[in-house]
Amino acid sequence: MRPAWTRVKPACGEMPQREGAATRQIDPTRMTIATLSSAAPAGRSNRPVVAWLFVCCAMIFAMVVIGGITRLTESGLSITEWRPVTGAIPPLSEEAWQAEFARYRQIPQYQQVNAGMTLAEFKAIFWWEYIHRLWGRLIGVAFALPLAWFWITGRIRGRIARQLAGIFVLGAIQGAIGWWMVASGLADRVSVSPYRLATHLVLALVIYAWTLWAALDLLRGAARPADAGAGPLGFLALVFVTIVSGAFVAGNRAGLTYNTFPLMDGRLVPEFYVDPALGSLMQSIFEGVAAVQFNHRVLAIAVVVSALALWLGRRRSAPAGLARAALAAVPIAACAQLALGIATLLLVVPIALGAAHQAGAVLVLTAATLAAHALAAANGARR
Ligand code: HEM
Repeated sequence: MRPAWTRVKPACGEMPQREGAATRQIDPTRMTIATLSSAAPAGRSNRPVVAWLFVCCAMIFAMVVIGGITRLTESGLSITEWRPVTGAIPPLSEEAWQAEFARYRQIPQYQQVNAGMTLAEFKAIFWWEYIHRLWGRLIGVAFALPLAWFWITGRIRGRIARQLAGIFVLGAIQGAIGWWMVASGLADRVSVSPYRLATHLVLALVIYAWTLWAALDLLRGAARPADAGAGPLGFLALVFVTIVSGAFVAGNRAGLTYNTFPLMDGRLVPEFYVDPALGSLMQSIFEGVAAVQFNHRVLAIAVVVSALALWLGRRRSAPAGLARAALAAVPIAACAQLALGIATLLLVVPIALGAAHQAGAVLVLTAATLAAHALAAANGARR
């Protein structure tokens, strides 16, 4: 007769074990939330939860691109107030439009850059910012309601529920950071602070990567990032640093100068790396057009070289299937992003290419996250 404890349904956090079974063979196709994270009663499929998380990833991807277009069309400062709920209703009367436009005419960007702008021109920049904020609200709702439902119905519990709650909190913070960024451009400046732009972009991509990792945990089995190893994790960190440097290129409008490649005004290292107008090396690194663009170029090339090294180094030892496919996608995405970046620079940042380059950065991050998760899962299973 099997001992008593094997007949009892496993409590939260325990993996069911049969007597004498050293390790339990996990069949990913029959994976349920219960066996993954003891989130729900055993046997209940987690497909709806996985599908929901992938939809959220797609919405965040779209949000990053909408954000890029909003910035590239200089629309980000057109709405000068933050009304998280009632702001979802756009101006519905001529009077309301005039009031909205009047508020915009108070800020330096209108007075110094767009003086004389017509209401029709104002509406063009208003709608991009409005769509950006509305899509942000939609992501919030698309995340919060299913999260509550899956939690109430017991589909998610324990570690995965806490992770998803953490992602939701970051999402709420992202909304506040978005306003904090806009607020930096409403007085004294005609554009937002590059530091706050970088913060806003990086938090968006942290939320994206974490949501993707949680979805992969549910789909393929929980993987600890540390199990991915120094190579894949180091590459992921390098991609994030390059994305931050890209935000400083964008935030300082550094893509509008030095529109040659590989040289910058005939030199490999630009003459004014330390910007005489800024005076200090540190300030030049974050606000100097030459240094900001040069750093981005160097980091971008480091991304491509290390993407190739990662693939060449791991392609044979990685298990067949997603791990190998994700590893192969890493250098492909990195090379495509390099080409997009060079084209964006040579053509002086046309809106469509700038937005494509922003989307390309998310694709590089996606491939890097998929590869890290697949390798972590494989290494974790071997431990
Ligand atoms: C391969 C890795 C690369 C990554 C991950 C990357 C990432 C990014 C990101 C995320 C931005 C936009 C930031 C924002 O809009 O807030 C950006 C902007 C930019 N990048 Fe890259 N980039 C890469 C390669 C390159 C290369 C090779 C070049 C050119 C030599 C380049 C030139 C630019 C320019 C000119 C901008 C500013 C565009 C604008 O104002 O919207 N990038 N990059």
